[in-house]
Amino acid sequence: MTTVDDSPSTPLGGTVSSSTGNGAAAAPTQSFSVPRRYFADSSDWESELERIFRHSWLFVAHESEIPEPGDYVTRLMGTDQVIVSRTESGDVRTMLNSCTHRGTLLCKADVGNASHFRCGYHGWTFANDGKLTGVPRYRELYGADFDKASFNLRAARTESFHGLLFATFDADQVSLRDYLGDMAFYLECFLGVSAAGTEAPYGAFRFLHQGNWKLEADNFSGDGYHLRHAHRAGFDLGLMGSQAGSTEGVCIQFEHGHTIRAQRTAGVEEIAFPGYPEERWPEIRSQLSPAQVEMFANSTVMHGTIFPNLSFLHTPRAGGFDPGDVDAAMVQLRVFNPVGPDTTDELCWLVAPTDYAEDWKESAFKTMQRQHGATAFFESDDMENFRRMLQVNSGVETRARVAANFDLAHDHAPYEAWFDGPGNIVGSDISEVNQRWFYQHYLDLMEG
Ligand code: FES
Ligand code: FE
Repeated sequence: MTTVDDSPSTPLGGTVSSSTGNGAAAAPTQSFSVPRRYFADSSDWESELERIFRHSWLFVAHESEIPEPGDYVTRLMGTDQVIVSRTESGDVRTMLNSCTHRGTLLCKADVGNASHFRCGYHGWTFANDGKLTGVPRYRELYGADFDKASFNLRAARTESFHGLLFATFDADQVSLRDYLGDMAFYLECFLGVSAAGTEAPYGAFRFLHQGNWKLEADNFSGDGYHLRHAHRAGFDLGLMGSQAGSTEGVCIQFEHGHTIRAQRTAGVEEIAFPGYPEERWPEIRSQLSPAQVEMFANSTVMHGTIFPNLSFLHTPRAGGFDPGDVDAAMVQLRVFNPVGPDTTDELCWLVAPTDYAEDWKESAFKTMQRQHGATAFFESDDMENFRRMLQVNSGVETRARVAANFDLAHDHAPYEAWFDGPGNIVGSDISEVNQRWFYQHYLDLMEG
């Protein structure tokens, strides 16, 4: 007869947190792990939608996607389908894409221009600001006193940060600017380089991937550890572009669970902005504060996650991909919408300064598509791991008794921080400090 040890084979949870001066939860100070069920379990996925996605600011579109009155895109906020519309008065509205009569999907297109949306079932018609304007035969069938205003589309709060549109259905959530908090300082480094602002010149790219949404969000939050292993072929084949000298990095954490990892070329006195046209460097210096210039100068990469599901990656690439390509800096935005515990609906955008030359934008776009497009070499490496993690995390024993570990550089952060600015800065380039931060906030919301 055999006996079964029913104790967890690795610690489940087991974190310690405290409060910091800025109100953010402190980083976990003990061994940190996340139960694997959170990466595969349907009931936990339902809880995420209710506890996290329903209350967070969620990225829905770049303003440049809907420049004219009537322009709209249809998007997801978690599993809720929404229309993001530029109204006749120029405001942006984010509204549930569901007819208020019996609930049919109202707009079936991904993108378009319309003054009104007419339901395909019984013909109710809504203006592009969500007001119900037309109900067939309503005097005869509902009565002349039928109150159309009580059937307007349900609207979310919508706010913009440097052209990035976020929405939330939580009336009590803080403003978007307060939600971003100190992270705004760092986002402005690459969103604020030009006085003309930014645009998403090639629109949005969409694909499904078989994996849990958090795996990508945590990867972008600060996983410098996987680069030389998961992406080794890219380095060996010289596909990663040139990088001068050695690098040093910092991890930065913010209230509400946001994170950034920033890396720069080490030991360079001269202030340079790799990837940006040299004639634009004076403008960058005037656009950014001295502290932002210090953070952004000689940047080799900056990436992070705005909790819960918007990640970004800024990276310059010298020489582009093909002969004749100009130097450029790619800014990619990427949203992870969990349409199930095992399926993630992803949208990607290239974001570029509006008034930069077309060949600069094309070179940046090529970097995004060749490195991080749906079939690109970077993406394929990561997706293979994420698919395999889903495969094993779905196991019953695994979900019940095994945890994912995040103790890398727990007590051994080997570097001095080279930057002293907003947020909680940790001088640890290769570590899991940011993943611990992301998941601590996640667990606080899921288990609090
Ligand atoms: Fe839209 Fe009836 S469901 S009009
Ligand atoms: Fe990767």
